[in-house]
Amino acid sequence: MCGIVACVGDSNAPGVVLEGLKRLEYRGYDSWGIASLHGNSISISKKVGRISEAAAALPAASVSIGHTRWATHGGVTECNAHPHTDCSGGIAIVHNGIIENYSALKKSLELKGHIFKSETDTEVIAHLIEEEKKKGVSFARAVGDSLRCLEGSFAIAALDCASGAVIGARKNSPLVAAFDGNGKCFLASDVTAFLQHTKKAVFLDDGEMVSLGNGRPVFTDFSLREIKKTPVEISWSSEQAEKMGHKHFMLKEIFEQPEKIAATMQNRLSGGSITLKEIAPVLRKAKQFDRVVLLGCGTAYYAGMVGEYVFEELCGLPVQAEYASEFRYRKPAVGKKTLAIAISQSGETADTLAAVREAKARGATVVSIVNVVGSAIARESDFVFYINAGPEIGVASTKAFTCQLTALAMLAVSFAAESGKIGEAAVKELVGGLRMLPQQLEAVLQESGRIKEIAKRYSDRRNALFLGRGVNYPIAMEGALKLKEISYIHAEAMPAAEMKHGPIALIDKQMPVVFIAVKDRSYEKILGNIEEVKARGGKVIAIANSGDSHLQQKADEIIFVPKAHELLQPIINAVPMQLLAYYIADIRGCDVDKPRNLAKSVTVE
Ligand code: AGP
Repeated sequence: MCGIVACVGDSNAPGVVLEGLKRLEYRGYDSWGIASLHGNSISISKKVGRISEAAAALPAASVSIGHTRWATHGGVTECNAHPHTDCSGGIAIVHNGIIENYSALKKSLELKGHIFKSETDTEVIAHLIEEEKKKGVSFARAVGDSLRCLEGSFAIAALDCASGAVIGARKNSPLVAAFDGNGKCFLASDVTAFLQHTKKAVFLDDGEMVSLGNGRPVFTDFSLREIKKTPVEISWSSEQAEKMGHKHFMLKEIFEQPEKIAATMQNRLSGGSITLKEIAPVLRKAKQFDRVVLLGCGTAYYAGMVGEYVFEELCGLPVQAEYASEFRYRKPAVGKKTLAIAISQSGETADTLAAVREAKARGATVVSIVNVVGSAIARESDFVFYINAGPEIGVASTKAFTCQLTALAMLAVSFAAESGKIGEAAVKELVGGLRMLPQQLEAVLQESGRIKEIAKRYSDRRNALFLGRGVNYPIAMEGALKLKEISYIHAEAMPAAEMKHGPIALIDKQMPVVFIAVKDRSYEKILGNIEEVKARGGKVIAIANSGDSHLQQKADEIIFVPKAHELLQPIINAVPMQLLAYYIADIRGCDVDKPRNLAKSVTVE
């Protein structure tokens, strides 16, 4: 996700900002830029790609704002890199978030004669402030009045040439202010950017602004009513701050899931319906498709397996999840009436890219569900559904997986509704279920302490089995992969009923068996499978719905999760699997963020 840094009061403000942006590199970015105040003008330097040492030769200034961009609206180009300015070049803006009503605002500003240079939503903010300033109000008033017109999420830093002021503000996107007590003030997306200058920070809350200048920050609301804020002492090291205080990026990303799933849904749920503007042309011709294939590798393939169940249930079409690496070596029955959905966090997985090309060559319409904007798979697909999960640094995929499942659910519901397969009531019920997900995931994350205790009891095992049925069978597959890839314990997964056809011979008291045993259509059958394992001395770890006292008696270990809509329950059930694997791997001293032999993106076939 994007990073913001601003500095006022240091004679080398551009250098301080540049150093701060480098400390935010872990957030992932594809372009960057800096704006600095020189007398009565603003100089701007921005580039696509990594922050190079060359950038260090920036002219001296004492007021500077900077940004690392993770593209959401508009391609990865120098023009779209932040900072963005108004028509006069006297106001510069950097922004993190998504302005949902930017199209309407842009049209209205263009009618007033404003000329836009970029494709971004951010540029609208600079022109709004310029328009407000024409009323003769102060810069701070112009910023506050402009921000009240915005819908969506934003953290901004705005630099005004005329007053030399820098103003920060936030709504649904983090922003921290800091000051060193000797006249230097800072703004940043997180404390990592300025910890080497000061450990005293003030975290802004939604609807708050801060004016930097005159040696001390002034905090107000958007109507300029002054607010008293209490500084906090940051005890983290810079490295800890990058992980938001978590021990590993993987754990941070597990705990980010409520926020990131909300980001995947942001701007796509309205009332009781789903609006997927980016794939509207596909949805309009939904009835023309007679088959759906889902393409992916590893965790992304397991997301496709869940999608297979959800699409089949809602759309009544033949649906098949395919290993992308196998797809093109067959003669897949794919043609003009096939909808191919490619799933990839990185958007660079070679096998998935090759499968996309194969599907397109056979006439299929390709929609890709991707995290990295502008990636190869995104570029080569007919339509793209970005999950907006922010960079996933841990090699083991966690937040991308649950965001992929959320995207697939939204896609399936929209497709089924457009095809006339489900009515308004069913859509409303599923949208209601989607809206519940962030808070339900928060509830699961609160179980992390108990899951860590369970992990301690099983971290020495050499094997494990993961069993599930129906739409939760792919989650068993994902749970086994998580354990394998970060703890190096051999684990396998299968549909629970399959155990009797051979694998039950593996059961003994050394074999932990993780069951997904939520109360859905397979619950009674799963109970039978649990009995079979118990009868042979196996240890049962059950993922169960809260309050399941029967299972609490039966299982050796139980992890309770909230009850969600049956087709959305896999999203909830994935999180205990991630936490169990994470804690076991950490207890075993494994390199959780960079497991041996693995790459974050497999760009070779
Ligand atoms: C997931 O934990 C693994 N790191 C791996 O299976 C990954 O999901 C797979 O390589 C696909 O990557 P992609 O989503 O970037 O295409």
